[in-house]
Amino acid sequence: MSLKDVFKCKNSTKRLIKKVKKRPLPQHIAIIMDGNGRWAQKRGLPREIGHRYGSEAITDIVEISAKIGIQYLTLFAFSTENWNRPDEEITALMDLLVEYLQKKLDYLYDNNIKLNVLGDIDAFPDHVQKEINYALDKTYSNTGLKLNIALNYGGRKDIVRATKRIIKDIQLGILNMDDINESVFAEYLYTADMPDPDLLIRTSGEYRISNFLLYQIAYTELWFSKSNLLWPDFNQKDLLRAILDYQGRQRRFGGIK
Ligand code: FPP
Repeated sequence: MSLKDVFKCKNSTKRLIKKVKKRPLPQHIAIIMDGNGRWAQKRGLPREIGHRYGSEAITDIVEISAKIGIQYLTLFAFSTENWNRPDEEITALMDLLVEYLQKKLDYLYDNNIKLNVLGDIDAFPDHVQKEINYALDKTYSNTGLKLNIALNYGGRKDIVRATKRIIKDIQLGILNMDDINESVFAEYLYTADMPDPDLLIRTSGEYRISNFLLYQIAYTELWFSKSNLLWPDFNQKDLLRAILDYQGRQRRFGGIK
């Protein structure tokens, strides 16, 4: 990219930011970062390289989200079904996660970003858990963007886990069955204390939810990219355009205007 192109690009991002800020922002954005494998395949590269470029896209999306004042950003990084991938790919994903945390932790901390994990990381190797827990501790008191990384996460598992935790609390006498309602149930999910996502983005032209946040997306606005926009290419302007699209929608939550 020439210097002139860099300036042009920065200016158009600035214009989009200005536009997006004129209307209410989504409080919570969730993203299914799809297409890393195809991105690599198209270039004759191993899938792991697609994931590497995918993790670079994360850096840009976290940065712009914090900058415009998004409160919650939830990224689907490793699903309960991703264990079905070849061992080398799983290891590469874990290594990338560790690398991301090691490289970006200072940035997250300095920018008041609070890291949170949705999912069960007990199944991850010890050194990966250690790195995650260190990052969680370090950013614990931050009050800016809440960055949720979904790791070994599945929407159905989330619901089953919440149900078991509710039963346990009933057995312990902490909770009364008659007091359970939708919002009490939500407090037993990994996303307790968080608003439901307002906007769910999926790249790569696949029109699926893939077991992500099933309970939480009942009234979420969905935004699917065209198939030629794969996650490693998803940039700040794409996020801003998706937000603009969301801002042009009318949310009725089952009611009428
Ligand atoms: C989907 O692409 C992507 C994933 C399963 C993992 C997402 C991981 C990253 C973006 C990088 C590592 C994460 C962090 C937090 C640093 P796919 O492999 O299903 O692509 P395909 O559908 O084209 O095969």
